[in-house]
Amino acid sequence: MTERIKAVLDDNEIPRQWYNIAADLPKPMPPPLKPDGSPVGPQDLAPVFPMNIIEQEVSTQRWIDIPEPVLEKLLMWRPSPLYRARALEQALGTPAHIYYKNEGVSPAGSHKPNTAVPQAYYNKVFGIKRLTTETGAGQWGSALSFACQLFGLQCRVYMVRISFEQKPFRKMMMQTWGAECLPSPGPTTQTGRMILEKDPNTPGSLGIAISEAIEDCVTSKDTRYSLGSVLNHVCMHQTIIGLEAKKQMQKFGEYPDIVIGCAGGGSNFAGISFPFVCDKIHGKDLRVIAAEPAACPRMTAAPYVYDSGDVAMMTPLLPMYSLGHTFVPPPIHAGGLRYHGMAPLVSHLKRLDLIEAAALPQLECYESAMLWARTEGFIPAPETSHAIAATIREAKRAKEEGRQKVILMNWSGHGLMDLTGYDAYLAGKLTNYLMSPDEMAKSLKSIEGLPKPPAL
Ligand SMILES: Cc1ncc(COP(=O)(O)O)c(C=O)c1O
Repeated sequence: MTERIKAVLDDNEIPRQWYNIAADLPKPMPPPLKPDGSPVGPQDLAPVFPMNIIEQEVSTQRWIDIPEPVLEKLLMWRPSPLYRARALEQALGTPAHIYYKNEGVSPAGSHKPNTAVPQAYYNKVFGIKRLTTETGAGQWGSALSFACQLFGLQCRVYMVRISFEQKPFRKMMMQTWGAECLPSPGPTTQTGRMILEKDPNTPGSLGIAISEAIEDCVTSKDTRYSLGSVLNHVCMHQTIIGLEAKKQMQKFGEYPDIVIGCAGGGSNFAGISFPFVCDKIHGKDLRVIAAEPAACPRMTAAPYVYDSGDVAMMTPLLPMYSLGHTFVPPPIHAGGLRYHGMAPLVSHLKRLDLIEAAALPQLECYESAMLWARTEGFIPAPETSHAIAATIREAKRAKEEGRQKVILMNWSGHGLMDLTGYDAYLAGKLTNYLMSPDEMAKSLKSIEGLPKPPAL
């Protein structure tokens, strides 16, 4: 028999609980705040989220049961396969063993349905009829559209304008699953109208789209808002990835020395890594690396501050690494990584030195994605290419050092709806965007005067 290249779990081996890292933090995380500096209570979040989700957001219980109706839907594509990337290892001539968890097998093509499904379910059982949300690359919008369809909810998605134009197929997916998809900023909200008046050609940003989706939610009947990343409950729903990966690594008889994920708002990175960070907190020796774009260098260059999650400051102030909520990112193709902030839980772990971060420039990511597609076959999403680039860096380092490192990477989604980016790369039209200190100082102006997080 040839050597194993994938580990597939049986349906009955699917994890039945999510892992909540809030239970294991060696130091407590600062709480979210209201603009006046007082802590946010569950009731403050009630106009935006249903109470069953708010309870998860603030929970410190280590294990939380996945409801049966959610498991039933997740089984449509989970457990997802874990592969050993032997062809890539050979092409690199590295002694490293590279494993990847393929989250591109979900109906929407990424890890996003792992939280879209439970979020739609909890809203449904709470009596909500309609969800609003934002989307960058369109992955989250399509995931939530799919999940709302499963549970009979209406769905409206505000899609960052540049992606709306670059990625028409994602919009068609959302419509196919019965949702409405609007370019953001747009004329249907007060925030959208205000921003368009100032800059009619704005490419939009996730921060703007979030403001529009929340404004729509709080001004509409039976409607709640759903966020595809950043928040604690979203990170927790994604831990099913790492929990499955642990069982699958056992089938290969290995445990990772390095765990890598790309980081936009932080959720897929949290998903693959938190169950391993738990081991690290309890004494295991491993490195955990979040790969972010050099064009949006939050954990590698921005300060740890209290900042709002959106442009209009409708969300609570969150303790996180942030480029400032008015940051309008350059038009890199990884739309899902163009966010000004980082999940508070991921930011906190970075601050505690339990994880590291790496900044990857666009061209290196596309080169890595090309090598991946030409060895492993699957064409990655531009977001995923950041994790691949970071993995290749580590595999090359293992070669230089002559050490047989075991690397586990989250392959967060496929790029079959993102081929315009590949087209631009192949035509030699893509460039690197690096953030200058001047741009950083300008974009950080928006957090002046906000409360400061306490020292560790
Ligand atoms: C394929 C893919 N990977 C990664 C991300 C980044 O999001 P997060 O950091 O929440 O995982 C996105 C966001 O849209 C995505 O579509």
